[in-house]
Amino acid sequence: MSSSIIHSPASVPGVVAGLPGRPVVRVRSATGDPMWLVQDQALARRVLGDRRFSRAAAAQPGAPALNSANPVPDSLTGRDGAEHARLRRTVAGWFTARRLAGLTPYIERAADDLAERLGRQPAPADLIGSFAAVLPLTVLLHVIGIPPEDRDLFASYVNVLFDSDEGDPVGKRRRGIALAGYMASLVDRLAAEPAPGLLSSLVSVHQAGGLSRPELVNLGLALLTAGYETTADQIGMSALAMLSDPALREALRDPDRRTGVTEELLRLMPATPVSFARVATERLRLADVTVEAGEAVIVSILAVNRDPQRSACPHRMELDGTSAPHLTFGYGPHYCLGAPLARIQVGVALETLLRRFPALRLAGPDAATWKNQLLTCGLASLMVSW
Ligand code: HEM
Repeated sequence: MSSSIIHSPASVPGVVAGLPGRPVVRVRSATGDPMWLVQDQALARRVLGDRRFSRAAAAQPGAPALNSANPVPDSLTGRDGAEHARLRRTVAGWFTARRLAGLTPYIERAADDLAERLGRQPAPADLIGSFAAVLPLTVLLHVIGIPPEDRDLFASYVNVLFDSDEGDPVGKRRRGIALAGYMASLVDRLAAEPAPGLLSSLVSVHQAGGLSRPELVNLGLALLTAGYETTADQIGMSALAMLSDPALREALRDPDRRTGVTEELLRLMPATPVSFARVATERLRLADVTVEAGEAVIVSILAVNRDPQRSACPHRMELDGTSAPHLTFGYGPHYCLGAPLARIQVGVALETLLRRFPALRLAGPDAATWKNQLLTCGLASLMVSW
């Protein structure tokens, strides 16, 4: 890759910086809590696959936190073992290969519509605000089953929630509460009047006693928070890489290489630079360090995706259609439920941009503005011309 700057962990703002070369290092989170940062892929798989590194313990009040938005204890991501598996089963059926194959034409149409609208705007225009961030929201609203008449209202709650501006925490909190309130009232409406979509199917599970009401509302919110910003960031960064490197653009045009190259984009520019935190439930040894019970461990996905043991040139993007293994979607019981959906969206988004805008280019050297966040990594805006 010629544009190595955008693939360098050091160039990504807000990312937890570890010391290179050590498998486990001590870092401090944004809230000032000390944590162990795992930088080796085999160790990362061990941590993410071992329940003694517990998500439930990490979601308890007072546990060491990555940032102020720790998950609530009764959420999908804040549970372990059988309780976690029970919640996960209620939604897993919506993300199977068969169901997603049926969804692909919808995603392609949505991407085409957005490209059409983008093409009618005066250039330069912001690719994030008009394409990369809109596609995942459109797809999620469809999958979750937000009624068409509510979509604008819903999008306004969600957009402000994920606004990267950290300057208005009280306003954000208020809008977060409004979103949760909307989700709760929608659940009541769907209970009275079932409709197509994931949320309505969860209401049936709730009515049959398989989910409590807070679990139901939290699951709807969890899918949104997990699936929207991550995918928007991944599409935005992938577009930036594609527009910065003619060889990469060529490789993405080639249907035989597109899937492997998209994996390389996921590996080298993960929208999730770090995993959620796990808290050790007992004293455990990790490489050359001892993790005491109650201490937190996070995985640097950015570092473990560039593991020299798994790739001869771990920092270089392979353009021949092969890709080294990565943990961009996590590993183990909390492995990303939406990974196949995210892969389809990134692939469709890049293919649509290439097809609809053969001359798409960055609008100058300062076209990209990075967000300054910790848990996801991506662009606030990307100005393009065509
Ligand atoms: C490129 C886009 C995405 C990336 C990079 C990503 C990444 C991740 C990662 C790293 C985890 C595991 C975190 C951990 O264990 O510490 C995760 C979990 C999860 N993701 Fe994604 N994700 C993406 C898109 C999506 C989408 C589209 C959905 C659904 C619509 C989704 C739903 C979830 C859910 C529900 C979990 C929690 C699973 C559990 O706790 O059992 N994600 N994701």
